[in-house]
Amino acid sequence: MNRPFDLLVRNAATLFTGDGPDGGNAEQLLAPIPRGAVGIQDVHVAWIGAEGDLPRDRVTSATKVLDAGGGLVAPGFVDSHTHLVWAGDRSHEFALRCAGADYLSIARAGGGIASTVRAVREASDDTLLSLALPRLQRLLGQGVTTAEVKSGYGLDADTELRMLRIIELLGTRQPIRILRTFLWPHAMPPGSTDRAGFLLRGQKVLREVARAGLARFADAFVEEGAFSPDEVRPLLEEARSLGLGLKLHVDQLSPGEGAEFAASLHAVSADHLESVSAAGIAALSEARVTAVLIPTATLVLRLQRYAPGRALIDAGVGVAVASNCNPGSAPTENLALALSLACLQNGLTPAEALLAVTRRGGEALGDTSLGRLRVGGPADLVVLGAPDVDHLVAHVGISHVQAVMRAGRVVLRQDNVARC
Ligand code: NIG
Repeated sequence: MNRPFDLLVRNAATLFTGDGPDGGNAEQLLAPIPRGAVGIQDVHVAWIGAEGDLPRDRVTSATKVLDAGGGLVAPGFVDSHTHLVWAGDRSHEFALRCAGADYLSIARAGGGIASTVRAVREASDDTLLSLALPRLQRLLGQGVTTAEVKSGYGLDADTELRMLRIIELLGTRQPIRILRTFLWPHAMPPGSTDRAGFLLRGQKVLREVARAGLARFADAFVEEGAFSPDEVRPLLEEARSLGLGLKLHVDQLSPGEGAEFAASLHAVSADHLESVSAAGIAALSEARVTAVLIPTATLVLRLQRYAPGRALIDAGVGVAVASNCNPGSAPTENLALALSLACLQNGLTPAEALLAVTRRGGEALGDTSLGRLRVGGPADLVVLGAPDVDHLVAHVGISHVQAVMRAGRVVLRQDNVARC
């Protein structure tokens, strides 16, 4: 006999499972169920279907109810690219860019990533934790139930390992599930010019990271002004051989065959891609690498070109969208804005945008149980006070998140969100 539900989510205009069969378009992959409901037992989804088909014997007086208020229910959002552990403030860089400076010239003048590295090295664990927690709280308010978080602001063995341990701790201090990424080749450490020595040290730290299970992914900033494919290949190949997945920053500021490089390494994701070429798009499609678009960074860096989301999807590439929350190129947790920009500037449809922070977000983290609602899967979901998906993105930059459930527990309720 089937056990009663601990919790029932009902009264949705539409429920999106994100669990349609592979190969469909965004609408088919989102698999909408009009007036859909979800029954939850413990931390898992136990039943999904139309509310009219609810198994009445599984809804008892002990079953709690989450009323979706006639809005939308979707899988909890997956933010597949963030750098949300940092100290210091780089708001003056925003002002410099408004006056015409670009990202790399600011970095060459001693700002950029290196300035955050200096601030992180000086900050205590408690400071880093207490700065990161409100950022995660704001992401939760955007509907995020899973976030990837990178190191990359330590750039020495001690601080990188410390960052990864702090990121782990963050996963125990608030509801969002955290997946960690070791990002050694992010920039040259302040004051150092020995590139080969730095990268070799990175391989040593990588072995410690893998031995202690401190990260699921390794990453590199592959860009003119950062690192070339040839420089980072040994570290990334070793990461892969140690069982880490690869997520790479590529083709962000200039074309550099970064997408082709990511494809050749069978990376889980290739992120940014503003300057990806047609050959790069074809390579990602062929190697089934998920593209992660970060339109808030394109906006903040005032780049001429947004990543070609439409062309990527038309070529068969799975496209995710992430916040990239960081102190420089994307000082924002506003995933709602990222979704609106993904439609306005990257050429996604509203349905593709929703898919990009649910199922595609999970794929960008190599985990097909994330960003989908299915029986036996995690009970991570979001209730959105919007009548349809068009409305979600048309109300530019506004979060419609009314409630967030993570592992079967309602962890956020916001009753003051705009419904229209
Ligand atoms: O993903 N591009 C490199 N890394 C970050 C920016 C980090 C920073 O500026 O602090 C990004 O945009």
